[in-house]
Amino acid sequence: MIGDREHWTNRLGFILAAAGSAVGLGNIWRFPFVAGMNGGAAFIIIYLITIILIGYPMMITEMALGKKTQKNPVGAFKAMAPNSPWWLVGALGVFTGFVILSYYSVVAGWSLAYIFRAIGGFTPDMDFASLFYTTIGVDIGDGPNVITPLFWHLVFMALTVGIIASGVVKGIQRWVKILMPVLLILLLILVVRAVTLPGAGAGLEFYLSPDFSEVTGRTFLDAIAQSFFTLSLGMGAILTYGSYLSKDTTISDNGGWVVGLDTGIAIIAGFAIFPAVFALGFEPGAGPGLTFITLPAVFAELPAGSFFGFLFFLLLSVAALTSAISLLEVVAAWLIDEKGWARSRAAIVMGIIIFLVGIPPSLGYNLLGGFSFLGMDVLDTYDWFANALFLPIGGLLTAIFVGYVWQAKKAQEFANDPPGAINIGDWYGLLIKYVVPLAIIVVLIFGLIDTFSG
Ligand code: TRP
Repeated sequence: MIGDREHWTNRLGFILAAAGSAVGLGNIWRFPFVAGMNGGAAFIIIYLITIILIGYPMMITEMALGKKTQKNPVGAFKAMAPNSPWWLVGALGVFTGFVILSYYSVVAGWSLAYIFRAIGGFTPDMDFASLFYTTIGVDIGDGPNVITPLFWHLVFMALTVGIIASGVVKGIQRWVKILMPVLLILLLILVVRAVTLPGAGAGLEFYLSPDFSEVTGRTFLDAIAQSFFTLSLGMGAILTYGSYLSKDTTISDNGGWVVGLDTGIAIIAGFAIFPAVFALGFEPGAGPGLTFITLPAVFAELPAGSFFGFLFFLLLSVAALTSAISLLEVVAAWLIDEKGWARSRAAIVMGIIIFLVGIPPSLGYNLLGGFSFLGMDVLDTYDWFANALFLPIGGLLTAIFVGYVWQAKKAQEFANDPPGAINIGDWYGLLIKYVVPLAIIVVLIFGLIDTFSG
């Protein structure tokens, strides 16, 4: 099979694919509400620091492992450390991809449903909480709605499978080249709409002037966890995309582009959301409901609001799709490389299984509404295992592996080759060997304490 491996046909293809993986629900749905609950600009400052100290070095590290070995996460660790248990880190990554995609697809499915809700029209007299509840299947007097959430989860998984089955160049690269520019244009239209609203100033004020009184230890944990999730780190997604890089691309530069694009788009998403939320007198700290309950209510009050709502949920769905394909690609690449499966078979069979694994979170608001794990519903439980445990553990072990087994110095040289615009210095070793592992351990421990102390 060596030599047959598909490669991105150019640098832009890779950057857009990796940025497409990174930019997703994490940027447009999660980032604004986490920032909103943590004091706006104050959070952003801390977040930027964690992106530089933890996100960028980890991005480089995963890309380097992939480019060096030209393999999926399991194969990559096997190639770097034969006859050792390190491949289990790759296996954890593949498993995590499975888990994340199963519930990510459920939330992305809600977003798809909302494209059609917006086409149906958002009007000020609507009850947006009820609209959200019927979308996720809560029984609001008309019986448990099992079909709606399952249907959109299925549609979203089918789109994801279709792209992955078509291959790296004809599937992933072709689609991200269309979808990423669309995403940027939609986002900019929404920003222009939001900042020109009467009263938008209050939102800009909240977003841009730091309020450090809201900052606690929790803010730092949230910032680090957000960095991992938003950059698609800790489970080998970036590693897998890096494995389709050819020798002549410089990782230090490409990693900079991907981190920059992801961070830029998250911050721009805030400009689309906060001015609108404030202009109409809503709460910025509304939490996860910000996107699906608060924003439609905001759109309902705007001239041509249903149209902008339609654009917004289209944007969210596109962003989710380019992320979901990177999750399925990890699982598919493992089966293709390690088990010799045909690509289409890997995509379809795994797509079906992941759909099935996603049924419990999809039905967590009706049939499985009684489920509770430490007070969390099914979807939050999946999310907790992935984000509070699997990603940090995967990231920690990857950092330790590259820092001490491969050797930070070698990874650094590899990432700088061939020489590009960014030259990674020895600070890389310091970060990957000490700062990153320590930060992750702190997040892991405090995250666990936080969850179990209720
Ligand atoms: N980064 C994506 C987002 O922000 C989600 C995602 C895609 C992801 N692939 C991942 C998260 C791998 C963790 C690991 O929505």
